[in-house]
Amino acid sequence: MQQIDDLFELAKKSESLHPDLVPHVRKTGHFDMIHHPLLVTTFYVPQLNAMYNRQYEAKKQYVKRMHESGDWSAYVSMFEKLPERITVYRGEPDREQSRPFGRSWTLSRWHAAWFARRFASGEMAGIVWRGTIAKSKVIALLRGRGEWEIVVDRRHVRDVVARRPCEMPRSIGTYPLTKSTGTYHGRSHWWSVLENAETLCARVPDADREVCRAFALLHDGWRLNDDDDPSHGLRAANQIKALKTRLGLSPFQHRKLIEAVARHADGATSRDPTIGVCWDADRLDLPRVGIEPSPKYLSTDVARRSIWAI
Ligand SMILES: [Fe+2]
Ligand SMILES: [Fe+2]
Repeated sequence: MQQIDDLFELAKKSESLHPDLVPHVRKTGHFDMIHHPLLVTTFYVPQLNAMYNRQYEAKKQYVKRMHESGDWSAYVSMFEKLPERITVYRGEPDREQSRPFGRSWTLSRWHAAWFARRFASGEMAGIVWRGTIAKSKVIALLRGRGEWEIVVDRRHVRDVVARRPCEMPRSIGTYPLTKSTGTYHGRSHWWSVLENAETLCARVPDADREVCRAFALLHDGWRLNDDDDPSHGLRAANQIKALKTRLGLSPFQHRKLIEAVARHADGATSRDPTIGVCWDADRLDLPRVGIEPSPKYLSTDVARRSIWAI
């Protein structure tokens, strides 16, 4: 709420756009937008100059602090860990647009989904663009505010595809998915896990795709809060037991799903391809809470090779 209050306060302030940003205001279609290497906005409204200026100053300060301290270790070690070709995402409101524009992308699918729905109505509106880029072509990796922002020249982003989170299933079998309550464990996370699971299943032939899809959509569905809730896996598994005939799964698949959900938060790995894919799909979405996925906690070779490239 504090952030929303701050936003309203900033919107009331009348000020000129920061002189660094002025040359970067561009006309694109019906909207103007700011297209500065440190700040890219979906649209530009002069009444929000104070907000743009604060965002720009915060990013500039972050880069300055890194320069002054000379402590690039976090940046460099993170950058070194990236594979030669990385997957990048960009979230935009749902509107007619044939290709994504903008220099600011992210390594986190969940963050892209968050940006996609930021100015859109509906919990899962917007488009998430996914593409790949050679690490050598990345202009900057910015880790401020818990984000994984990647600044790129969009001409170097390849294999661009659009994904619409709103197309996520609303039910499994005859069981309708409930509205999610949390931010980090809610619908955007279910969607990210679902996308990860689909990609991993295509590369792990022995994994049961139907079970992995059900896991993605149900595993965090009975959380009590968005923070510490160590029993949420067991709680979800107990609920899923009662849904036996509604999920459209065979008894074997149903048992497998219950096993995967019950223990998904224990930090263990599994040799079972289906359970391994379920847990890996979940853990590859850890960047949403600022955590790098660790190969040590991934079950499948495919997932270990897919960190930052899924
Ligand atoms: Fe969980
Ligand atoms: Fe999860």
